Amino acid sequence: MTVYSRIVGTGSYLPGEPVDNETLARRLAADGIETSDEWIVARTGIRQRYLAGPDVTTSQLATEAARRALDAAGLQAGDIDLIVLATSTPDWVFPSAACLVQKALGAPGCAAFDVQAVCSGFVYAMATADALIRAGNARNALVIGAETFSRILDWSDRGTCVLFGDGAGAVVLQASPEPGILASRLHADGSHESILRTAGNVSGGNITGHPFLTMDGQAVFKLAVGVLDSVARETVAAAGLELGSIDWLIPHQANVRILKSTAKKLGLPPERVVVTVDRHANTSAASVPLALDAAVRDGRIRPGHHVLMEGVGGGFTWGAVLARM
Ligand code: ACO
Repeated sequence: MTVYSRIVGTGSYLPGEPVDNETLARRLAADGIETSDEWIVARTGIRQRYLAGPDVTTSQLATEAARRALDAAGLQAGDIDLIVLATSTPDWVFPSAACLVQKALGAPGCAAFDVQAVCSGFVYAMATADALIRAGNARNALVIGAETFSRILDWSDRGTCVLFGDGAGAVVLQASPEPGILASRLHADGSHESILRTAGNVSGGNITGHPFLTMDGQAVFKLAVGVLDSVARETVAAAGLELGSIDWLIPHQANVRILKSTAKKLGLPPERVVVTVDRHANTSAASVPLALDAAVRDGRIRPGHHVLMEGVGGGFTWGAVLARM
């Protein structure tokens, strides 16, 4: 019998209280950095973000999101036989954040590893877990996107620090005789590594290179709009469907202008695009599962709906996963 994978539960977690643009602008002004709610909203659509406290780690956010996804699926931690966690801000160099989540959940023995594809990470993780389930290597996988991007932001660079937030989202992907994940496509082009990167490391007990995120915003914008269009078309075609049968588009939540351009190019009405960037800002690998969980819990996404999830980010990486819920 052919085995497929299906999403059977979603969950998410955001740390602390939201920090709105005006509050952030006041904090930055104290250090002589000028920005405003008007600038941030007009250029990005972002109105607020969540920022993890100094003692809160990526694996803690991931664990909370995973618990909520397990509850939604009606499963226990012991039922999980695979954990794939997408992050670029793991707690440590090693062990992986996935292993720390496994320890916190109390699910020893199952495979656990991190995937690093920056803002495309969740889509990469979903495609990986789907392939492992279809190959018979797992039956109940936790797929998580979790980040504490606030740790790698240069708070004196107003061109980047206003854009990002912290958070986590998770799904339980389960083996099923009925297809849930209909198709996925992944891509990367490392020749664009310099337009978006955190080019630092730990070496000899010191930080080497530059430990903060740097970005050529306009180059990222142009590339993102192009690849989000092409990979959406490629993935929908791979599933043998038409764009018109997509009920919900969930692109990586970087910037509301990118979301609108993507939907317009694809000919999808704006009301079929899930937008959370206004509330969450850009949470990198967490953005797609956070948006998915929001739309599942508020009742927009319902069983049988076709949901196209798209990632794009540093690497340069991009990809999409098409799911029937
Ligand atoms: N507040 C006020 N002014 C600002 C701020 C700020 N926070 N940041 C930059 N400015 C100023 C600049 O200094 C510049 O001033 P100048 O004209 O006097 O030199 C002016 O605003 C315009 O700056 P640009 O960088 O050209 O602004 P742009 O219109 O390109 O918008 C932005 C910048 C929002 C980053 C845009 O390029 C963008 O959305 N890029 C997409 C990249 C993105 O979303 N990245 C997220 C991560 S990547 C990913 O997730 C795929």
